[in-house]
Amino acid sequence: MISLIESNSQRVRNIISNGAKDTEKIGRRLGETLKPGDVVGLSGPLGSGKTVFVRGVAAALGIQERITSPTFTLISEYEGNMPLYHLDLYRIHTPEEFVWLGVEEMIGGNGISLIEWSERAAHNLPERTIRVTIAIADNDSRLISISKPSHLNS
Ligand SMILES: Nc1ncnc2c1ncn2[C@@H]1O[C@H](COP(=O)(O)OP(=O)(O)OP(=O)(O)O)[C@@H](O)[C@H]1O
Ligand SMILES: [Mg+2]
Repeated sequence: MISLIESNSQRVRNIISNGAKDTEKIGRRLGETLKPGDVVGLSGPLGSGKTVFVRGVAAALGIQERITSPTFTLISEYEGNMPLYHLDLYRIHTPEEFVWLGVEEMIGGNGISLIEWSERAAHNLPERTIRVTIAIADNDSRLISISKPSHLNS
């Protein structure tokens, strides 16, 4: 971890990843802290590693299946210790389209939701959403910023 910033409302961790394996591990560590109903919004450019990060979270939930980007299906569901909903909003361009997806009833239920391109639905996600932003620093290095509302533990 390169920095930890805490304010009354958010705790932000900035971490450097030096390869896909690192990003997966960072995802696994976050996954170990998640509880049913948690929502994780991922943003970052194409190929930054959002799906790689989701693989790590899935591993923490005991999911054996290989996670692939639901770019065309928009939503995939996996069964682990608890359900994991993996969404990709790349093809969503308006808040209305997001509402049509019917995601709002799904998120916050008894599963964990991970949402790639979450900025497409920024205003429709719950306030307690954990935000993960991945920036490409170099070929294999990424700056990963995890921002958690302070009332969520750890
Ligand atoms: N440090 C790193 N972390 C994550 N991925 C990395 C890293 N270095 C290189 N990569 C490579 O970058 C690619 C990331 O692909 P991934 O599908 O996870 O991106 P994405 O952000 O989900 O893209 P998309 O927006 O298309 O869904 C993989 O090929 C991975 O091997
Ligand atoms: Mg992806």
